[in-house]
Amino acid sequence: MIENNVIDSKLLERIKCCQLPVDKRKSLPFECYWEDSILLQEQKQLFSNQWIGLGRIDRLETPGEFEAFELCGQQLILIRDQNESLRLYANTCRHRGAKLLDGSGQCQAISCPFHGWTYSLSGDLKYAKKMSDNPNFDFSEHSLIEYKLKEVKGFLFAFLGDKPTNLDSQLGDFAELHHPWSLDELVTTKRETFEVKCNWKAFLDVFNEYYHLNNVHPTSIDNLYNEPEVAEKTTGEYASQFGLTSGTGALLEDQQSDALPKMDNLDTPWSLGARYTWVFPNMTFAASHEAIWVYETTPITAGSCQVRQSICFPKNTTELPDFKEKSQAYYQRLNDALDEDISALVNQQKGLNKSTSIQGQFSSLMESNVATFANWYASKLA
Ligand code: FES
Ligand SMILES: [Fe+2]
Repeated sequence: MIENNVIDSKLLERIKCCQLPVDKRKSLPFECYWEDSILLQEQKQLFSNQWIGLGRIDRLETPGEFEAFELCGQQLILIRDQNESLRLYANTCRHRGAKLLDGSGQCQAISCPFHGWTYSLSGDLKYAKKMSDNPNFDFSEHSLIEYKLKEVKGFLFAFLGDKPTNLDSQLGDFAELHHPWSLDELVTTKRETFEVKCNWKAFLDVFNEYYHLNNVHPTSIDNLYNEPEVAEKTTGEYASQFGLTSGTGALLEDQQSDALPKMDNLDTPWSLGARYTWVFPNMTFAASHEAIWVYETTPITAGSCQVRQSICFPKNTTELPDFKEKSQAYYQRLNDALDEDISALVNQQKGLNKSTSIQGQFSSLMESNVATFANWYASKLA
């Protein structure tokens, strides 16, 4: 409903087929996984027009700790200020636009490497050499550009556009549906960032569907997952599907004896399976009965993305004497399954590239979250 003129009208018609009833719904047109014009529209209509998931909030613990990162080509800084609040700034100097910080680290102030303009952790311009001589220069007009941040259930959300929308409306019943897992009390014990040579949506698709398990993970995790339940009818812009597991889905089949305790107060059936949730557009997680694992993806190009992975446990689990040893098996499960998924994704991207063939259809039970995303995506772009 916003300017669609960059997307070819025939392609738009095919995107609209993702809004059909689920038994007739088409998967996303293949162009959505490689076309630059699509990526441009996604940046405008998905990443700059609503709240975006930035992962878990329990990071950058001391004032001045920062992470510099790129989101849809825009350079950003996430930093903890002197009052211990997290702030999100454009990583762009207000003088002549140089990039201010790289990587991650700790700083007392944000100082530009080009001509030395220096900002406090709260984003105020504090020093600009020779500029005090100019009566027409106002330091208070040159603070860093700041974006809104909010926390929900231990997850961080940012709004990068000009007119922040209502996050509560966007998430609907998200907090209520996930209440049994006490998500806001979990502690992140491992975090990784890496690049994958596939479209950002493809990574989220594969994480959210059961359909590939016996082909891609036949000996690692497939036998742990029972057929999932019918997905939830949510009121927010997210999809969620629960399924029972034999043992825990958070460990490899042959390492089930390393299982850590279940979360306190988690009733059946939640204590017997895993919930897979996709918060549109770009954050997803699985909530098993003793851990959650979270991924955020952001596009680098149409055919490659950056992925951030986090794994979190209840605080009392992390304090167990054997946590360090047993958690290794959890990290190994994530990495082994991820390696298998990445091979499948790289192969899928090769098949998708430059293909304009008519898209397929979904298995409505086994690819339910992916089908719900496709419907939502079409509602934003077509
Ligand atoms: S561009 Fe940053 S001080 Fe000049
Ligand atoms: Fe997988």
